[in-house]
Amino acid sequence: MKKISLTIDGNKITAGEGENILWVALDNGIYIPNLCALRDNLESMAACRLCFVEIEGKEQPVTACTETAVEGMVVNTRGERALKLARNAFDLIMASHPVDCAHCVASGCCELQQIARHLKVKLKPKRFKKLLRELPVDDSNPLFIYNPNKCVLCGRCVWVCRQHGIGILGFAHRGFQRVITTFADEPFSNFRCQECGECVKVCPSGALVFKNGNKFGK
Ligand code: FES
Repeated sequence: MKKISLTIDGNKITAGEGENILWVALDNGIYIPNLCALRDNLESMAACRLCFVEIEGKEQPVTACTETAVEGMVVNTRGERALKLARNAFDLIMASHPVDCAHCVASGCCELQQIARHLKVKLKPKRFKKLLRELPVDDSNPLFIYNPNKCVLCGRCVWVCRQHGIGILGFAHRGFQRVITTFADEPFSNFRCQECGECVKVCPSGALVFKNGNKFGK
């Protein structure tokens, strides 16, 4: 792969031409909030709208997960316009996310906590009305527990289940009712889940956790 040079937050960086800005930044120790991106998934879903960056010469902030690196590119991950968009997206996610970190097995390695710290926002934003879902928790799988109320709809588990497992998971419904679930909303135990645990490992929140309390295994 041809090597190119670009600048991110004032740092001169060498990357492969066509590499994705999100992974170039993360590989060089520059954090950009992200929830829906997965390195192996070459077609970014760009669903979470958290990875906004500003690029010199572009009028509007762009999502880092859909932007490829080109020679001489100048990227700013700390621009106010990009951060404002990311904060809006994060507050909307958190408006329907139960925050009970003290009792959540994911606390400490939850990506929502990391993003809140990075964006300097609270996990309990006040500007949007809190609307919590009250969906049943599925603990029928011997390996993991799925709590859809803590799901941020990033879609990582859906993608990895199709790649590594047998594609049990998918999106259902629209708007506030949108949920990641199994076919016909049946318990995991009704499917031949291969128990690879990949869905749990990529889950950024406490929605999918191992029963042994191992959090994500990341
Ligand atoms: S990581 Fe880019 S939009 Fe989600």
